[in-house]
Amino acid sequence: MQGPLIDTLVRQGVSRRSFMKYCATLASLMALPPAAGRAMAQAMAAARRPSVIWLPFQECTGCTESITRSHSPSLEGMIFDMVSLDYQETLMAAAGHQAEEALEKAIEDNKGQFLLIIDGSVATGLDGAYSCIAGRTNLDLLKHVAPHAAAIVAVGSCAAFGGIPKAKPNPTGAVAVSDIIKDKPIVNVPGCPPIPVVMTGVLAHFLTFGSLPELDRLGRPKAFYGETIHDRCYRRPFYDQGKFAKTFDDEGARKGWCLFELGCKGPVTYNACATVKWNAGTSWPVEGGHGCLGCSEPDFWDGGGFYKALSMPADPLKMAATAAVVGAAAGVAASFANRAKKGGAKAAHETVTLADLEK
Ligand code: SF4
Ligand code: SF4
Ligand code: F3S
Repeated sequence: MQGPLIDTLVRQGVSRRSFMKYCATLASLMALPPAAGRAMAQAMAAARRPSVIWLPFQECTGCTESITRSHSPSLEGMIFDMVSLDYQETLMAAAGHQAEEALEKAIEDNKGQFLLIIDGSVATGLDGAYSCIAGRTNLDLLKHVAPHAAAIVAVGSCAAFGGIPKAKPNPTGAVAVSDIIKDKPIVNVPGCPPIPVVMTGVLAHFLTFGSLPELDRLGRPKAFYGETIHDRCYRRPFYDQGKFAKTFDDEGARKGWCLFELGCKGPVTYNACATVKWNAGTSWPVEGGHGCLGCSEPDFWDGGGFYKALSMPADPLKMAATAAVVGAAAGVAASFANRAKKGGAKAAHETVTLADLEK
């Protein structure tokens, strides 16, 4: 067992001051009360490193790249020093039989206590033969490891919802982790890839409180996926004024107008990009001039079409839900929302997905 985590971080050159600041920011992003930042720092500083087993399935390594931030070590990256990453094929030094032995040992030594992180979807076609590690299918490996885990974190849209491998015609029979495992707590951290700080937020919560954060109906942490991109987008005032860029290089685009008509899926995408941003808070897709693709939603890739603008469906109930989400102009949102309520439509923040709009 290693010493307290704070010692590890100090050895990595992280000052106590920046650690406290990081915890305060994380607590605020997770909508925890102000005192929680200090409590989180104290708990994390004193905690012992829990074991983490990370299994990569049908994936592109983008999730690992995003989360380890290998190009630029950061405090988020260093949070990974706070866990004992006992098995991660991309990062571990061991290979071949040695690696497989490390996995079995990690399971044996930490039964019922380790956190299982999975990136990539699970291939089920041909009994899972489309994706194997050491001659064993991902499907088989998942069923072998998951029963011994305390909880599972499905990292990235592939693991959370099937992602790109599940896109039509889904030749490998790709499914999400939650389609296979039904008897373990699972946190979905979607995004293609997910934002690093969201992932470390989940880890920090587990380290601090020994539990998983509050989740929405799709198993996503509410603290990071509670609002749409559109809810917090800095271009929103242009949307409300009806000022839309028509092409990527027209006058409106140069003035930073709303990208809705260029296919932005921000109104139906739940993620924290607009507030947390990417690359240590440098920018995010919409700030870079491209609409949100809806990469953290269940039907990312098939749903919506990248450059097809969201349209108001003809069906009044769907229209009501959409209006509530996009905050439709000219005051129609409230009246449609009321009609939706009377008609029994689900709450807007839980309802509209890319798939709903495609139906
Ligand atoms: Fe790659 Fe995206 Fe899947 Fe992550 S979610 S493994 S980045 S395709
Ligand atoms: Fe921002 Fe897209 Fe919403 Fe426009 S439609 S305000 S660009 S999220
Ligand atoms: Fe993905 Fe949209 Fe954010 S495409 S990275 S959820 S802005």
